Amino acid sequence: MARIPDAVIDEIREKVNIVDIVGQYVQLKKAGKNYSGLCPFHNEKTPSFSVAEDKQFYHCFGCGRGGNVFSFLQEIDGISFPEAVAKVADFEQIPLAAEYREVSGPAENSETRQLIALHEKAQELYHHMLMNTAIGEAALAYLHERGLDDETIAEFGIGFAPNQRQFLEQVFQNEGFDSELYEASGLFLKRDDGSFADRFYQRIMFPIRDPQGKTIAFSGRFFKTEAFPGEDQPKYLNSPETLLFNKRMVLFNFDKARGTIRKESTVFLFEGFMDVIAAWRAGVKNGIASMGTSLTQQQVNAMERLATTVVICYDGDNAGIEATQRGIALLKENSRLKIDIARLPEGLDPDEYVQKYGGEAFAQLAEHGRETVFSFQLDYYRSKFNLANENDQLLYVETMLKELTQVDSLIQQDHYLTQLATEFHLQRETLQQQLATLKQQARHLQKTPDRAYEVPYEAPPEHAPKVAPITTRPLTQGEKAEQQLLYRLFNEPRLLYQLEQAQVHFLHEDYEEIYRLFKEYYEQKGEFEVAGFVDYLDNPEIQNKVITIVTLNLPQESTEKEIQVLLRVFEKTRLADKINEKVILQQEAGRIKNTQLELELAIEIINLRKQLKQTDIF
Ligand code: GTP
Ligand code: MN
Repeated sequence: MARIPDAVIDEIREKVNIVDIVGQYVQLKKAGKNYSGLCPFHNEKTPSFSVAEDKQFYHCFGCGRGGNVFSFLQEIDGISFPEAVAKVADFEQIPLAAEYREVSGPAENSETRQLIALHEKAQELYHHMLMNTAIGEAALAYLHERGLDDETIAEFGIGFAPNQRQFLEQVFQNEGFDSELYEASGLFLKRDDGSFADRFYQRIMFPIRDPQGKTIAFSGRFFKTEAFPGEDQPKYLNSPETLLFNKRMVLFNFDKARGTIRKESTVFLFEGFMDVIAAWRAGVKNGIASMGTSLTQQQVNAMERLATTVVICYDGDNAGIEATQRGIALLKENSRLKIDIARLPEGLDPDEYVQKYGGEAFAQLAEHGRETVFSFQLDYYRSKFNLANENDQLLYVETMLKELTQVDSLIQQDHYLTQLATEFHLQRETLQQQLATLKQQARHLQKTPDRAYEVPYEAPPEHAPKVAPITTRPLTQGEKAEQQLLYRLFNEPRLLYQLEQAQVHFLHEDYEEIYRLFKEYYEQKGEFEVAGFVDYLDNPEIQNKVITIVTLNLPQESTEKEIQVLLRVFEKTRLADKINEKVILQQEAGRIKNTQLELELAIEIINLRKQLKQTDIF
């Protein structure tokens, strides 16, 4: 291929905005004049990856990688420079002559490339067998019957592996593929005599693709016929681990779902491939599934890079409900993702639900029928206790209060407290007190393991307040705003009058408490001094937070605009919480078949969403 002239490269680079390209892979937030996000090249929980729009450069302070739009694509997609140029040209729809497109590059002969070529060929073959041959006819009819049209089958490249042990091998031989590769591909089993047999036969073949959309493995669903009932066959058979395929890394459909995941900041998690595909047909295009195993940290990280919310949409049967409970624990432990649950009725899985109620109903449920983790757990634990028994009732309430300590939104806490008190005829105040106690305990539990990591760099001065170590988890937008506003208030106490006029309420109770204590202290002393304020506080958790705030690194003076923006963030977060709350109420109304209430809530939600749009500042 011909070398791409510099002028062409320049033209392409000048037409593209690096933010658009990087944004395909990383969830970027505007921060000042730059954008920042979680680095896609190394594992991290605090964003240290930054894109400078004016310079059209990216840089990661964590791992040191940096460069322009082409080097970004080379690195992340593992492609050559000319390929990266071509990719940007295609993205911007800039015509690029074929002579500049790489047909065969130097890396072409690497084992990885050859293995991919083998898989792509196998995928084509299996697909062809399914669509165009008598051998695949019955399997195709079966898929049609399950509601998959030809377009969907083609989109996912589904195929059929016939009931022959020498099928793939013969074709590959004719194609002149190197038989050395057979073993490494995982597509064959090696017999004792050194000959090869196809691993997959009599199976409907689902290609497993890497994030670039290349087929790197298969999962084959056994296709039962009268002639071959295959009682001893596993329902699904996966490729073994190979150079290409690491089960712990791969998420089914991640390549196709990525764009929508990023756009909606939301990822749907399903149990089965058929569920992902059914959801896709229903218009829910941000669905993925793990390979029939529980999620790994790598997979969670991949999701977290693109999304802020994960919706667990597992089967509605008992196994699915237990898997949901496990999934919640795992995601809570390993990510900062907001978790929602889309629960399916009647023990159905998503695919069955689409079959029974249609794609539109599923899309509705996915969008408006979600519930919070807490609401899910209200029901989950209900089935674990015998609520006819008074003792069990109390245990249930206590379990739920424990879970409630993990709910961040005060509005939601309030709502659920009332609900529990009403249902079990308990004093709301008693529950509130117990909740407060449990929160204290939870904090102590959280703090203990952190200490192990604390290596004192410098002995603190004698008079320093004894505080728990400061944890370094990344903050939400809302919490950042709360800290920033308090920082301004500490440095410019006169802002208090403005905040009082605006009737500010903080989003989290700790910050609301700091705000309350600030006012109390300021009123008593008539002036404000941080060192004195810290001594004035007796709760170490609160002290800790105040110190974090004081040591923030912000420009010297606040601006009017900054304060306005911070207040808007508050409003936005509050509206989002409120929408969540209404969505729960709406779902409950739906469950008790109160259509009137459901409708009213739907209208409220629409109005709130409108309000939320209007506050949009990002
Ligand atoms: P259908 O029965 O065709 O609707 O499939 P499904 O998508 O509903 O599958 P199911 O709920 O039975 O299983 C969910 C996922 O678990 C599958 O997509 C597979 O990834 C995995 N799985 C199920 N059965 C097996 C098995 O026998 N072996 C392996 N390795 N994985 C399995
Ligand atoms: Mn199913």
